[in-house]
Amino acid sequence: MKVELAKTAGFCFGVQRAVDMVLRIAEEEAAEPLKEPNCPAGYSQSQNSERSKPTLIKEPIFPAGSPSCQNSEQQNPTLLKERRTVYTFGPVVHNESVIRKLSEKGVKVIGSEEELDSLREGIVVIRAHGVPERVYQKIRDRGLVLLDATCPFVQKIQRIVRERTGRGEKVFLAGSVSHPEVQGIIGWARGDVTVISDPENAKSLPDAGDLVPGEQSRDVVLLAQTTFNADNFKQIIAILEKKGYHVHVINTICSATLERQAEAEILAGRSDAMLVIGGSSSSNTKKLFEICKAKCQNTQLIQTVKDLKFNSDEAIRNVGITAGASTPKEIIEEVLTYVRTKF
Ligand code: F3S
Repeated sequence: MKVELAKTAGFCFGVQRAVDMVLRIAEEEAAEPLKEPNCPAGYSQSQNSERSKPTLIKEPIFPAGSPSCQNSEQQNPTLLKERRTVYTFGPVVHNESVIRKLSEKGVKVIGSEEELDSLREGIVVIRAHGVPERVYQKIRDRGLVLLDATCPFVQKIQRIVRERTGRGEKVFLAGSVSHPEVQGIIGWARGDVTVISDPENAKSLPDAGDLVPGEQSRDVVLLAQTTFNADNFKQIIAILEKKGYHVHVINTICSATLERQAEAEILAGRSDAMLVIGGSSSSNTKKLFEICKAKCQNTQLIQTVKDLKFNSDEAIRNVGITAGASTPKEIIEEVLTYVRTKF
């Protein structure tokens, strides 16, 4: 049996960066904390002792123009702290094994803004999906330390939305309204953002000719959630133009997603069986599964090797494997080894 692993399988740049940030800060905080109460900031009394080294946050990253950039007093990166709890605002990736690993290192997940409101101290990591601007404000107001792991590609969309709506321009965003990335993006707007979930949804929008002249503009800026389906995006553009809108398209679909989807489609097309590895709540994994299933009927979506249901009697000669952007390397390798050795 030939087993082929997609080159683009697994963590994308943004997720890898976010996971690395959380692991790094969790490990730094897990180091022995400084106990002496009278130490000057940044130094311990017993400077020669390796165990008494202060825990420092070296390079918190804030998006340009965010409120956090200005909060230098409360969030001085060289400020000495005792061991602090590390929180992520939402799970840092949609993968249970990664979350478990981080939890073993003491990382806690904040599930809502209400939970954030109840925190008194700690370090809050913003995950790759990003958050609304008001969350930065809340973190600052509560005197918490912020570590921003928002993917730079998502930050770009947040910035465009803030600037364009700030200039009074009408913004359409192709995406899923309930997705945290979309909720985060909307939270940077200075005006209305219309979210378009799919081509059908675009068809239900009013024709530009029916808009009130002088009050409602035909000119729209169209952006997309980073993981939005490229074909649906093209269809939405065509529908809006047909409706008479002057569409200024800024394609913000992440190339990592496009490359992963394109490779998976080709691989599924030449495979007798296809495995898509990823969390059941990961939208990019679900999309990968749909793409592969359309090309290869024998496609399975699995979270780990335990979910695999291969019948050794099946006449399978070529197995293709791909994985979502939040699937860690270890899980992919485990599946790969299992398939190679057992079948
Ligand atoms: Fe990943 Fe960032 Fe693209 S999180 S999928 S590299 S937008």
